[in-house]
Amino acid sequence: MENKIKNTGTATVTIGKDSYDLPIYQGSMGAPGIDVRSLYKQSGHFTFDPGYTSTCSTESQITFINGGEGQLLYRGYPIEQLAEKSTFLEVAYLLINGELPKREEFQNFSESITKHTMLHDSVENFFHGFRRDAHPMAMVCGTVGALSGFYHDDAHTTKDEARDIAIHRLIAKMPTIAARAYKYSVGQPHVYPTNSMSYAENFLNMCFSVPAEKYTVSPTIIRAMDKIFILHADHEQNASTSTVRLAGSSGANPYACIAAGVACLWGPSHGGANEACLNMLREIGTVDRIPEFIARAKDKSDPFRLMGFGHRVYKNFDPRSRVMQKVAHEVLDELDLNDPILDIAKELEKIALEDEYFVSKKLYPNVDFYSGIVLNALGFPTSMFTVLFALARTVGWISQWNEMLEDPTQRIGRPRQLYSGAVSRDYLDVDDRA
Ligand code: CMC
Repeated sequence: MENKIKNTGTATVTIGKDSYDLPIYQGSMGAPGIDVRSLYKQSGHFTFDPGYTSTCSTESQITFINGGEGQLLYRGYPIEQLAEKSTFLEVAYLLINGELPKREEFQNFSESITKHTMLHDSVENFFHGFRRDAHPMAMVCGTVGALSGFYHDDAHTTKDEARDIAIHRLIAKMPTIAARAYKYSVGQPHVYPTNSMSYAENFLNMCFSVPAEKYTVSPTIIRAMDKIFILHADHEQNASTSTVRLAGSSGANPYACIAAGVACLWGPSHGGANEACLNMLREIGTVDRIPEFIARAKDKSDPFRLMGFGHRVYKNFDPRSRVMQKVAHEVLDELDLNDPILDIAKELEKIALEDEYFVSKKLYPNVDFYSGIVLNALGFPTSMFTVLFALARTVGWISQWNEMLEDPTQRIGRPRQLYSGAVSRDYLDVDDRA
């Protein structure tokens, strides 16, 4: 990656009587950043930013979010246009390579992904080691990490071709792993990938077909699945992506880095929110109970939060939630389902958007607000929701990992701390302890 941020000025930090000049850098869009890399060396002071609310961890040319405007761009292209006009595999190519593929480039890319969809037969043994009731995220995390035991050549960190293969393998094998985890949890036989199908169709087929019956799925549902993957493909330096970058910054194996991303995504504040959101909507159950849950979300003594609402970066509508709401209608219409949960969600959204608490804190629906309704309608159990997120986000993780390795300014990630524990003291023999 060619570094493109430009030095546009100087910020002066004054500590006591001393002042330190720090360069200001500006990217092509978004807020500028003060380069504090020399601050500790110059002044002996760290910056303190738990939760990284004011910290840019890297320069990146992949995804841009304008949280105030509710804008999300992949390599400059608006998410709404990509969801409408592109396909997940084309978006994957775009995220990894920076440009939309020409016809031949796309054909070569798709063929390579298709060629790598199968798992090494021994991977099957890993699934059999899990309890039947293991969470599918546990199986995905463990199995993706285990792939590092199959592809342990460290050439991926230095050689372009080997790295490309690792990237293609991950994108190709994630659906197979995700579907295998699902089949294992429901006690059905593993369905092998079908390389003549599209990425989304193949995934649905591996999840829902059984040897005893012919499985067909409508183009509308396949398209909905593909759109869901596009919406989740990348989201700049979120917690799981930062985890993948941090793991990769030490030169770790890419499959192990992606397993780290899966682990981070699992939590209910991140990718686990779609599961938590649908559970919440079910718990609400009827429209008349919404005020009770709104009151709980506002009550500081109650840890309850309105799942699917709020975002660290978006202080406006998450643009993905608008697309997802449309997908929810398309899927429910296609399947001729009248899910009362959708009515609850729409009413909850309406009430929350008018409530002073949510308005003043700029809490809007995020991508997870409607995604659970769609995934439920598609037939996935809630435990699979985050797995689908992980499957799609693998493309973003691996694009960001690749970008990091190509960044000449990349160093191992190593934050510092403000230590407030016990000061230096001598060891006491057990009889001398108070
Ligand atoms: N319900 C009620 N209050 C909320 C909510 C919510 N969902 N989200 C934030 N707040 C309040 C919070 O209590 C705080 O109030 P105060 O300033 O009075 O202390 C204020 O809004 C700011 O919240 P925060 O926790 O400091 O904000 P954050 O940027 O650290 O957290 C978040 C962002 C997404 C973790 C949070 O909004 C949340 O927990 N939302 C629910 C979980 C969710 O839907 N997560 C999915 C995120 S989108 C998918 C993804 O990117 O992974």
